[in-house]
Amino acid sequence: MTGWVKIVGLGPGADELVTPQVSDALAAASDVIGYTPYVARVAPRAGLTLHPSDNRVELDRARHALTLAAQGHRVAVVSSGDPGVFAMASALFEALEQGPTHWRDLHIEVLPGITAMLAAAARAGAPLGHDFCAINLSDNLKPWALIEKRLRLAVEGDFAMAFYNPRSKSRPEGFARALDLLQQACGDARPVIFARAVSTPEEDIRVVPLPDAQPEMADMRTVVVVGASNTRVIDGGQRPIVYTPRSVLS
Ligand SMILES: C[S@@+](CC[C@H](N)C(=O)[O-])C[C@H]1O[C@@H](n2cnc3c(N)ncnc32)[C@H](O)[C@@H]1O
Repeated sequence: MTGWVKIVGLGPGADELVTPQVSDALAAASDVIGYTPYVARVAPRAGLTLHPSDNRVELDRARHALTLAAQGHRVAVVSSGDPGVFAMASALFEALEQGPTHWRDLHIEVLPGITAMLAAAARAGAPLGHDFCAINLSDNLKPWALIEKRLRLAVEGDFAMAFYNPRSKSRPEGFARALDLLQQACGDARPVIFARAVSTPEEDIRVVPLPDAQPEMADMRTVVVVGASNTRVIDGGQRPIVYTPRSVLS
């Protein structure tokens, strides 16, 4: 039998935000590999082997997937959101590049999902309606100095910004430093959206002006969206609507 690897995005949480293409891949898979909470989102069934694993073992997971596929297994590697956004697709290709040449003959596909910043933006209105950037605030895989440089340049370029992995229990000080930098560098009251557990029963969306943003408003289930200088908050009746206009006047 011909094996394959499909690196699939499960979306932000809600079942209806999983694409039909990803559902089909999961239905056809013989094996599901991924971080334990994401594998837990796949219903067990006869003929399907689930391989949950710990955080921070992405390369081991990727090699496992490629090894199984080379043996003829049909492997779905699961990520939350989109697999190409701070997730397993890059890890899989790192393993592929470093691995035996016969892995290059495997059928490998990346199946997109709805990434957290887009799900959060949709809840708030359209804060990413003009130019924006996404920054992973975790310093596990890059130095903190680079994060600060990118933050400063994103402010200088007047991008709206989406921050993934804002704050973990083990390094809460990083997000406090990031907020401090933004408050100093922006010097205005642009809106900040703290979107927690979007599309799950625990969803919580909070919009505050940048000077009022506090580090403890985020945790690792939160994506934080900071507006550009022209991002607006308008009264939407039931809730504030945050949007960034499509144009910037010259
Ligand atoms: C390792 S990254 C994975 C990102 C994922 N691949 C994506 O495209 O959304 C994990 C981070 O994504 C964000 N995140 C993932 N799901 C989320 C959700 N439902 N609501 C808010 N943020 C979420 C959080 O910032 C979290 O710390």
